[in-house]
Amino acid sequence: MITVLITGATSGIGRQLVIDHLSAGWRVIACGRNPDALAQLQALSPGQVVAAKFDVTDQQQTETTLSQVLAETLGDGPLDRAILNAGTCEYLDVEKWDTAQFRLVMEANVMGPANCLGALLPRLDRGSELVLVDSLARLLPFTRAQAYGASKAALHYLTRTLEVDLAERGVRVMAVSPGFVDTPLTQRNTFGMPALMTVEDASAAIMEGMAAKKRNIRFPRRLYWPLTLLSWLGEGLQVRICRWLKKQE
Ligand SMILES: NC(=O)c1ccc[n+]([C@@H]2O[C@H](COP(=O)([O-])OP(=O)(O)OC[C@H]3O[C@@H](n4cnc5c(N)ncnc54)[C@H](OP(=O)(O)O)[C@@H]3O)[C@@H](O)[C@H]2O)c1
Repeated sequence: MITVLITGATSGIGRQLVIDHLSAGWRVIACGRNPDALAQLQALSPGQVVAAKFDVTDQQQTETTLSQVLAETLGDGPLDRAILNAGTCEYLDVEKWDTAQFRLVMEANVMGPANCLGALLPRLDRGSELVLVDSLARLLPFTRAQAYGASKAALHYLTRTLEVDLAERGVRVMAVSPGFVDTPLTQRNTFGMPALMTVEDASAAIMEGMAAKKRNIRFPRRLYWPLTLLSWLGEGLQVRICRWLKKQE
């Protein structure tokens, strides 16, 4: 059976990706920390969902659990698709700098995928797909995004370098950069979120992009294009525009 592994499967975008893969007939290895949410996913389609509970920031736990679940599910075979989607967001205040919050975001969004790669890379072979979820926030220096934006920019760089080094093995590497999606992660935001999307629409865009084998899956277009055009400007102009945007909040 064709198999996808999804991290951050217990909530938001990842949970919807599980549902959409199940509808398309995939077997899903659903990863997360919340045992109740994992059990709910298994109940959606008994026998089609394998649950893996681990914290992506814990290297040993991640490698051990992932290696074990992959061996139990696939034997010696390769994994068809891995979607590294687990992540978190904290906004910082430069007047009350919180290094612990910075570390928390970096650990989840950068070290988390790196820890997963330790167990996943040996399982990716010709035809396998590796998909990493960053964010349109990586494009510009947004106010209070010192941790989140930096983590997603680092993740995007990691994705592109993986694309370079996995090409010979025949592994397809894809980056997903969503705009604002209505999930528990963004429901904490106190600012206006332009072009906010539903998880259903976000997951549909990701499913379509993966089916079309796009290197960069970016959405929604009405947010992606203006941000991309601004990201082509000189850095001084980008900073001035982001200072102006900050004043509009
Ligand atoms: N929502 C947006 O507007 C938006 C925009 C751009 C990019 N993204 C990115 O999309 C991804 C999914 O976000 P979402 O909005 O769907 O958020 P969400 O609803 O808060 O879900 C986050 C998921 O990540 C998992 N996770 C977080 N930290 C983890 C850890 N240390 N170990 C294991 N799992 C962990 C959570 O699992 P547990 O709850 O089980 O711990 C949960 O399943 C994130 O990478 C986010 O940065 C989101």
